[in-house]
Amino acid sequence: MIPPIARRFVAGETPATALEHVRECNDRDIKVVLNLLGEHYDDPTAADDDARAYAALLSDLADTDLDACITIKPSQIGLDVSEARFRDNLRGVVDTADEHDQFVWIDMENHTTTDATLDAFEEFAEARGGGMGVCLQANLKRTRDDIERFADVPGKIRLVKGAYDEPPAIAYKSKERINEVYGEYLEYMFENYGGGIAVASHDPVMIDRANELHEEHATPFEIQMLMGVREDAQEELAHEYEVHQYAPYGGKWLSYFYRRMMERKENAGFALRAILGR
Ligand code: FDA
Repeated sequence: MIPPIARRFVAGETPATALEHVRECNDRDIKVVLNLLGEHYDDPTAADDDARAYAALLSDLADTDLDACITIKPSQIGLDVSEARFRDNLRGVVDTADEHDQFVWIDMENHTTTDATLDAFEEFAEARGGGMGVCLQANLKRTRDDIERFADVPGKIRLVKGAYDEPPAIAYKSKERINEVYGEYLEYMFENYGGGIAVASHDPVMIDRANELHEEHATPFEIQMLMGVREDAQEELAHEYEVHQYAPYGGKWLSYFYRRMMERKENAGFALRAILGR
């Protein structure tokens, strides 16, 4: 069972608890992007199992009136086995999404996976005429070209700062530089995209900048934040904007929870207080 302290960041262990979480968010006008926790499977059976679990989740969602979609890590559905396995499994998930007209996001992992992930996104998004989204990381120097590449591809782009520690030859390393390019990419997107912009950041500066650009260009956008992070802001922003909460669920919650705890002193303090009962 997931301890209450981890429940702040994880929507339970089962599809049923995940859907319950979606209902609570939807009641607060927040849409949900569900992620079944899991990554880097070199066992093809594990990859196939998670692909089937996503398809089953989409079918479960289709039987409800809930507003949610899914987001998948490529290495969770076979990219560490082979690119062919990843694409076959993605096709299986997308076939189910097609049946119910549902949206599928692809997370972005480290730079060794970028080409395979973007090529798959482009092919599936073109074939579906949208209904797909992919994450681009501002810290990667290549991202300027990728943002231009996808301006006319149907679907959505989720812009993040980047969670992976990448080599300096291919990535910006300073926070200042990453913030600067994040702002520049937002400008390009609001000027050149007709929509499909997901601003995935907890940073009030980036959200304010997106709002300014929206007012200037009238380009629609959505805000995405993680479950358990700036929840009050999510609720407040949802009065004015489309807000989507990225909510992970599943048995592999421990390492995800650990990562959330380690990334900010405030979270570690919160964990310690909860454990000490204060
Ligand atoms: P950053 O960490 O730069 O902080 C800037 C400011 O935001 C802080 O000064 C503070 O004001 C506020 N803030 C940040 N965290 C806070 C917290 N815990 N509590 C309170 N305030 C906080 N990465 C990736 O490589 N691939 C992916 O697929 C994804 N997907 C993804 C989806 C979604 C919905 C989100 C929100 C993020 C991702 N990421 C990701 C992670 C992303 O790359 C990045 O590591 C984190 O979002 C942290 O960067 P931020 O822009 O949120 O703020």
